[in-house]
Amino acid sequence: MISLPAHHSPMRVALVYNQKKEEAVQQSMTDNDSEPPSSRGSFSPNQSLSQISNPNSHSSQVSDLYAEWDTFETIDAVRAALAEHHSVTMIEADEDAFSKLQTERPQIVFNIAEGLHGVSREAQIPAMLEMLGIPYSGSDPLTLAVCLDKSRAKEILSYYNIPTAKFGVIHSKEEIKNLNISFPNIVKPLHEGSSKGIYNSSIVHSKEELVIEVGKTLDKYNQPVLVEEFLPGREFTVAMLGNGKELHVLPIVEIIFDTLPKGVNPIYSFEAKWIWDQSDSPLDIFSCPAKIPDKLKLEIEETCRKAYTVLRCRDWCRIDVRLDSAGIPNIIELNPLPGILPKPEDNSCFPKAARAGGLSYNQLIQTVLILAAQRNGLIEHTSLHSN
Ligand SMILES: Nc1ncnc2c1ncn2[C@@H]1O[C@H](COP(=O)(O)OP(=O)(O)OP(=O)(O)O)[C@@H](O)[C@H]1O
Ligand SMILES: [Mg+2]
Repeated sequence: MISLPAHHSPMRVALVYNQKKEEAVQQSMTDNDSEPPSSRGSFSPNQSLSQISNPNSHSSQVSDLYAEWDTFETIDAVRAALAEHHSVTMIEADEDAFSKLQTERPQIVFNIAEGLHGVSREAQIPAMLEMLGIPYSGSDPLTLAVCLDKSRAKEILSYYNIPTAKFGVIHSKEEIKNLNISFPNIVKPLHEGSSKGIYNSSIVHSKEELVIEVGKTLDKYNQPVLVEEFLPGREFTVAMLGNGKELHVLPIVEIIFDTLPKGVNPIYSFEAKWIWDQSDSPLDIFSCPAKIPDKLKLEIEETCRKAYTVLRCRDWCRIDVRLDSAGIPNIIELNPLPGILPKPEDNSCFPKAARAGGLSYNQLIQTVLILAAQRNGLIEHTSLHSN
């Protein structure tokens, strides 16, 4: 169990966030002409919700434009957790964010902003904060940008001999012939999260299927495509808290694919995350703590510690892991701005792992703030006790 470090005096905290524009998502499902606020994706959604819910339909036309951003409910839950001990100002990470931060000058920022535009969007708020000399929670601009480009992150992991699936980056269909990896493959947009662009159809077993899927992904996401060898084993996600030698691995979550609709591919796809799993009828897709032998648990923990360290993550990160055909844990990707939906029935992995490790949602948020404040010398360093 992890316990929160000792109490300390209140701080002036700013919570910096991007709020999901739910109305706009509704709108974009019916309006082919709706313009996205960024150049990230250009969907022309034309599918009804009943088609979306059908696991056999191709659901890649559902708008996932705002999938990364947080809902009011999540943002307000983080605010409430921070407000238990601190004064909290809310700052939306929009084009006025820099001047708002400059005027407000909080002692510390709790950063959950996914950013507005571009392939390094998660780095934008941390870069502004560094320029202003304001301490903030979580990883720095470099780590955030590298982890948002899954190929760059995988190159670093490979350099340190940390297992990760073989891959290639494709900029145009003509480059497919240069790929030197074995089928089956998984096809994903290079710079996305929240399973954007990862659908049941993203698994391909032949050159013909690969060409079609790469073409669709290139067209829809207007960015390079990552093609990886498919890791066929069990999948886990690992929530980590801490810095330096004091790095805590929370109880491991396993993704149980048996709970997905019959006949679909065993991946945690956009459909699985956002369509088949609803608060009013949650998919029983997670097992935490994962039921695994101690040896495998230690192996997963060790691989995740190495990945966290070589990518220079700070305070917290959720790392996705899958076993290869030899049973070896491979890193799929790192999420240094992890999803943190507050309600247990929302099936959000970091809060779930925290609860299993003895931290309530509010304690998790407060712990991340304390880790950041300690790292910046704002409060005295005390350990997170763990036994
Ligand atoms: N190489 C792979 N082999 C097998 N399955 C994979 C592989 N890469 C991705 N997947 C599956 O696709 C899912 C989503 O992939 P990934 O984690 O890269 O996407 P993401 O959109 O960044 O996810 P997140 O919501 O965690 O940000 C994984 O959870 C896993 O089920
Ligand atoms: Mg993932």
